[in-house]
Amino acid sequence: MKMIAYGIRDDEAPYLKDWEAKHPDVEVKSEAKLLDETTVKEAEGFDGAVVYQQKPYTKAVLDQLGQYGIHALSLRNVGVDNVDADAAKENDIHVTNVPAYSPSAIAELAVTEMMRLLRNTKKFEDKMRHGDLTWAPDIAEEMNQQTVGVYATGRIGREVVKIVKGFGAKVIAYDPYPNPELQKEGIYVDSPEELYANSDILTLHAPALKENDHMINDDAIAHMKPGIRIINAARGTLIDTDALIRGLDSGKIAGAALDVYEDEVGIFNTNFGSFDKIPDARLKDLMQRDNVLITPHIAFYTKVAVKNMVQFAMDANLDLLTTGKSDKEVNL
Ligand code: COI
Repeated sequence: MKMIAYGIRDDEAPYLKDWEAKHPDVEVKSEAKLLDETTVKEAEGFDGAVVYQQKPYTKAVLDQLGQYGIHALSLRNVGVDNVDADAAKENDIHVTNVPAYSPSAIAELAVTEMMRLLRNTKKFEDKMRHGDLTWAPDIAEEMNQQTVGVYATGRIGREVVKIVKGFGAKVIAYDPYPNPELQKEGIYVDSPEELYANSDILTLHAPALKENDHMINDDAIAHMKPGIRIINAARGTLIDTDALIRGLDSGKIAGAALDVYEDEVGIFNTNFGSFDKIPDARLKDLMQRDNVLITPHIAFYTKVAVKNMVQFAMDANLDLLTTGKSDKEVNL
């Protein structure tokens, strides 16, 4: 069996090596570059491909994999929104993801950012850098006084519910498919609007579906409680960034923390050398606000998560190749 693993970073390599040591009968080629039209030729002669990236898996790439007889494509991440579903089906390419590499990794970052916003840490750090070690006017809010609204209660959303409850916050949630256990606790509201109107902090944990595109727009913001803080560690496309900026400018939104951004591809996880060289004026505007926290899609970036992403994806690819099935196969 021959597998090619694309886009293997230095932090992933040891976990791939561990996996290879346990599977001496599998020949694995580790390729540093991402899978795209220019690198797909490296896959010729292999049986399966294991990949990770935020840029699209295009029809051209999937057609080429199909021609090489590769019908097993395993993503090391959870989101499959960047896979051309029609092209995968046309080429009979079975796609797996890693749905739960570490829900805690994402949830813990979301909660970290809630706390940072509430305690004004960015403002204090900025002031201190300029020699100002005073308190006023940045008096903080306490988490135990907040109502946290969780949009979508999949694995990550449920982890957030658990953590913020530990802080003594009140939790409400909305999900078109409520979780039976949480339903018993009576935390669900009936509509997104009800969630927006009653949340001091709104945290998004929905996948990027067509229906969710720009779900946080001017209309949604109009329904929100004045002074709301918004956290997005899910997908950039959930938020209409221009509407968010209008909400921040008007003061309706007191703060935001974004680990994802709708135009992040090609920008996040790139070193531009200086702030001025970041090629996105809107992002730079947000980064410079003292009530906005931007992180470059790092919620997943923990040792546990990265290990699981690599090793679960390798397992899933091998399952597809040896049995034709995987419990991680995604219905595109
Ligand atoms: C995902 O798993 O979908 C993520 O957002 C992580 C990122 C490495 C793509």
